[in-house]
Amino acid sequence: MSAIRLEQIEDNDADLRAALTDAHLPTDDIEDHDRTFFRALSSDGRVVGFSGVERCGDDFLLSSVITLPDHRGQGLGSVLVEQALAGLDHAGDVFLATTSAAPFFTRIGFSEVQRNSVPAAVLATRQLSSICPSSATIMKRIKPPT
Ligand SMILES: CC(C)(COP(=O)(O)OP(=O)(O)OC[C@H]1O[C@@H](n2cnc3c(N)ncnc32)[C@H](O)[C@@H]1OP(=O)(O)O)[C@@H](O)C(=O)NCCC(=O)NCCS
Repeated sequence: MSAIRLEQIEDNDADLRAALTDAHLPTDDIEDHDRTFFRALSSDGRVVGFSGVERCGDDFLLSSVITLPDHRGQGLGSVLVEQALAGLDHAGDVFLATTSAAPFFTRIGFSEVQRNSVPAAVLATRQLSSICPSSATIMKRIKPPT
């Protein structure tokens, strides 16, 4: 049932901003340079989620992963992440910061890492340098995208 496709959207997309706000995720940095956002569409064309990727030198920061509330718990979140990462240069590592969804990301191939092992360009993103609390869990993709 997880037939979704990702479509790139503008960083000023009103539905993206609303979904981030509803999910209590940051919006301050969504128009920053080097960010790319996608909306996830179901096979019948409905928007079911969003995700974003930020290039940080050779690596990437995954953020703004949202399955809209009515569609959660059906495997869409994991497919959404797989598809968002599928188009990236696989030589780079993928990081994220989360305050609430670490167990979800562990299930799909991420592992917690210490800040002192995170590349400077990733730490310099607004998410990691100022928006996310220092208590946020930083995770790195261990399993390569399939
Ligand atoms: C995290 C999120 C994207 C998962 O989307 P989803 O489509 O429900 O994910 P899936 O269906 O692929 O996986 C669901 C599984 O992950 C678990 N899960 C989802 N969110 C979780 C969370 N915050 N903490 C722990 N487990 C979580 C579910 O319990 C479920 O497990 P189950 O299959 O054993 O019931 C969705 O809950 C969401 O949009 N949350 C709000 C935004 C957010 O926190 N995003 C992550 C920060 S970038």
